Amino acid sequence: MSKPKVFVARKMAREALDMIAEAAEMDLWEGELPPPRDVLLKKVKDLDGLLSLLTDKVDAELMDAAPRLKVVSNMAVGFDNIDVPAATSRGIVVGNTPGVLTETTADFAFALLMATARRVAEGDRWTRSGKWKTWGPMILLGYDIHHATLGLVGCGRIGLEMAKRARGFGMKVLYHDVVRRKPEEEKEFGLEYVPSLTELLPRADFISVHVPLFAETRHLISTAEFAAMKPTAIFINTSRGPVVDQKALYQALKSGQIFAAGLDVTEVEPIPMDDPLITLDNIIIAPHIASASVATRTKMATMAAANLIAGLKGEMPPNCVNPEALKH
Ligand code: DGY
Repeated sequence: MSKPKVFVARKMAREALDMIAEAAEMDLWEGELPPPRDVLLKKVKDLDGLLSLLTDKVDAELMDAAPRLKVVSNMAVGFDNIDVPAATSRGIVVGNTPGVLTETTADFAFALLMATARRVAEGDRWTRSGKWKTWGPMILLGYDIHHATLGLVGCGRIGLEMAKRARGFGMKVLYHDVVRRKPEEEKEFGLEYVPSLTELLPRADFISVHVPLFAETRHLISTAEFAAMKPTAIFINTSRGPVVDQKALYQALKSGQIFAAGLDVTEVEPIPMDDPLITLDNIIIAPHIASASVATRTKMATMAAANLIAGLKGEMPPNCVNPEALKH
């Protein structure tokens, strides 16, 4: 019997590729950049499975071009690049990689928080450009992290890991989420629930966003939200770029309405080099690397491979976002 055909949209950990090659006839995209749309549309024609990344748009048009497609396995916890209802109605299961990147992402969000508060990247630029002439009482002053207040916008898995890290710094942790955590969790992790963003934002020294991108969360943080923050506030986003209105962020940073920001995600990725945010000194913009540790990216890849292989066999992927698709 011939093996099912799969397309893997980028090079990834060898362990994962070996798993896939054993189970399927694998077409691996070797390019540094994502496969162009027209290439992907052609490739999917006779595919049984697709291993996609968050840079690959998997919409109804693509699925219609793939009559045999049984599974789309996304190597990411987020799956806003995939039209899940369209997949479900076509009986295509969709897999993702939750859990394995939680702590690695929280580590990075905390790194951004610390680096922006203490002006690490700015200091490095200062040194390299020869501006370091002496030690000075007023040079590159930032804000303390210890004993400050962290406001979490969204307190799912990653938000909770932020709270654990914040505790080590003696921080107070506020959170707002559509789903409130259990009282025992609030107690265990020292979380104070705040019923609205309007109440949370003016109280926090650091605001860190941990919500998925849905229609309801698009531009969740915009002009009014930045206006509600302290002038010393530091804003961190490691979730998805479009959750933040980037024009409003630029105005807030430029006008000194808030002190600084650290982003791992932007509205358009990569951020265009003529985006005005690039001109500011009080922002760090990382290239969507919060989950990029060797161990985590390896686990994400093998998890995505396992989801793909299960889907090819008509089984439920171990991490499936639309189990109801199997009923179709
Ligand atoms: C995800 O998994 O959704 C991250 O954004 C990439 O690791």
